[in-house]
Amino acid sequence: MSEDLRPDRRIVFQGLGALGVAAALAACGGGSGGSSNAGSTATAGKAGEKLASTAEIPVGGGIVLTDRHVVITQPTKGDFKAFSSKCLHQGFDVSEVKDGTITCTVHGSTYDAATGAVTGPPAPSGGKLPAVKIKVDGDSIVAA
Ligand code: FES
Repeated sequence: MSEDLRPDRRIVFQGLGALGVAAALAACGGGSGGSSNAGSTATAGKAGEKLASTAEIPVGGGIVLTDRHVVITQPTKGDFKAFSSKCLHQGFDVSEVKDGTITCTVHGSTYDAATGAVTGPPAPSGGKLPAVKIKVDGDSIVAA
């Protein structure tokens, strides 16, 4: 049985320490739960739904919204990207973003935080985390 609705919301931060955790807790609003991934571009929620604040996402790092299965990164200042957080190896959520690299610590796969492309095994070479549509709306990252 695969359940998208999980009672806990785990957000992983890299690079912000306690300040980032506080920001994450502040950002925990309502969640609508599952979304369908029928196409090649995943969705993070209803259009305009707030996912995070820009201040929560460190340059070169990112956050993982495990309840939405989305990882949001900021490869360079002011440039925000989002991808499915489901690892291409066995589907666990990736767990950290640091120094421009998204890592799935379950078995060590790595991805480029700017493109989602696989940079290290065991995720298949040539693979890419599907992009997720987001938009910057003021100081918020929202679903698009
Ligand atoms: S599930 Fe991510 S590396 Fe295995």
